[in-house]
Amino acid sequence: MILLCVCYLKESYDAAKKNIILCIWYIFIFILFTFCMLYIMLYCRTLVVYPWTQRYFTSFGNLYNAEAILSNSKVAAHGVVVLHGLDRAMKNMDDIKNTYAKLSVLHSAKLHVDPDNFRVCKHTAGRLPDHRDCADVQAAWQKLLAVVVSALADMYH
Ligand code: HEM
Repeated sequence: MILLCVCYLKESYDAAKKNIILCIWYIFIFILFTFCMLYIMLYCRTLVVYPWTQRYFTSFGNLYNAEAILSNSKVAAHGVVVLHGLDRAMKNMDDIKNTYAKLSVLHSAKLHVDPDNFRVCKHTAGRLPDHRDCADVQAAWQKLLAVVVSALADMYH
């Protein structure tokens, strides 16, 4: 699939065909990486690399080191919940701000998550592994994350 896309893009195809290929590519990327890697990147990587974020997850049990975090079933379950949150963003790309309004209120008013942590999340999840050569994919992903983070921080006053 990857090779197919790269080969097509290297050929001199017209803009419409390139767009179709890019769409297929984005869908492929979304399905594969969202459901396999993002949970690790968003939560495990964030909890490991920025340990102060663990303070919000005291009820999750042992988060002592990277090994404990990666094998923590509550972290894994929460990762799935967050992926569903991102899924909602993907399905409502034209109105992420309103889609995330309640989630933003929850993170601010109830969970008291410092919004700086969303930016941390953006950094840990911002770089898709093994896509250094595909700037379009990387750029599209970072743009989506930027909008998600901005929407999550929207209800903070
Ligand atoms: C891309 C960024 C994020 C997304 C999409 C996201 C999404 C979500 C979702 C969908 C929930 C479940 C809400 C519910 O139960 O109705 C949640 C809960 C939660 N989030 Fe986030 N979140 C993000 C970033 C963060 C960050 C950076 C932190 C803190 C460092 C955080 C802390 C929490 C906590 C503590 C909960 C409640 C966990 C529990 O006790 O079950 N979130 N988040």
